[in-house]
Amino acid sequence: QKYDVCVLGATGLVGKTIIEILEQRDFPVNKLYPLASARSAGQFIEFNGESIEVLDADNFDWSQAQIGFFSAGGATSAKYAPMAGDAGCIVIDNTSEFRYEPDIPLVVPEVNPGALADYRNRNIIANPNCSTIQMMVALKPIQDAAGIDRINVCTYQSVSGAGKEAMDELAKQCADLLSGKPVESKSFSRQIAFNVIPQIDVFQDNGYTKEEMKMVWETKKIFGDENILVNPTAVRVPVFYGHAEAIHIETRTQTSAEEVKALLSQAPGVVLCEDDQDFPTQIGDASGKDETFVGRIREDISHPNGINLWVVADNVRKGAATNSIQIAELLIKEYL
Ligand code: A2P
Repeated sequence: QKYDVCVLGATGLVGKTIIEILEQRDFPVNKLYPLASARSAGQFIEFNGESIEVLDADNFDWSQAQIGFFSAGGATSAKYAPMAGDAGCIVIDNTSEFRYEPDIPLVVPEVNPGALADYRNRNIIANPNCSTIQMMVALKPIQDAAGIDRINVCTYQSVSGAGKEAMDELAKQCADLLSGKPVESKSFSRQIAFNVIPQIDVFQDNGYTKEEMKMVWETKKIFGDENILVNPTAVRVPVFYGHAEAIHIETRTQTSAEEVKALLSQAPGVVLCEDDQDFPTQIGDASGKDETFVGRIREDISHPNGINLWVVADNVRKGAATNSIQIAELLIKEYL
């Protein structure tokens, strides 16, 4: 069976990648409807050797699609997702708009596939934040085997997480700086070229940023554990694709680096760098791939139940597009 599929935000970084991956994975698409704003309606995108016209989402009859991938910003999802859901189009939403609503499932297929059943509540499924997804994939086997009391995490996040304009800004700042010109910053609060910025998304009243709090809220919801403690610092780095994370966990029962390696060598969606002196990075390992890469697994010399891990994944793929499509594949397999 094939499905009529719409992609909202089809001209954006994530939307374009969704369309590419639908083709790469041979997703059972009958008709594809690329949607964007009136600004880019009338453009064409390529899919399976065909040129397909981009439509204005405002005029779209949502009952024409059975599955919708939404990636056009929170406000756009707030406007269209309930409409689409009511019309019978099951929405897989990449924004943070619905993630924290108790009746909306927040799903990483390798981690909490059972949560998907709740899609029927509103015909909306939320795709987690990119930094949360890769952390969940790497930690789930440890959570199951030893329990996790606390997570300390510091992220090293690429500019593609902030969209196409942010990527152009990094490229232009690098070129300008190397040719002695002054730089201009619009996408970030500081110069991003040759710099690192410990601010992603807006600051909250508690001094954490929203990106950091997303990792706290989403970990609790995905693991189904209100008591798990998460302490993140989210940092933007001048890298185009791929997020890295230095994760320090405290397990409930003591475990060892060898046990964690054994668990992760079997874990779905994980590529393990077993050699202690080898490690994954964004370029050459994670960028362009769908797996989550884990290395530098070692026992914490400062805590008896502590384990350290270095986790890298492509934020546009596993962190957004691929995870959404895996949710849709699971939906089809289990429920449609
Ligand atoms: P458009 O090309 O019409 O602006 P990115 O994250 O790379 O910046 O991409 C954002 C995506 O979301 C684009 O495809 C953009 O389409 C789409 N988008 C933004 N605002 C709206 C809107 N109000 N209605 C429909 N699509 C939107």
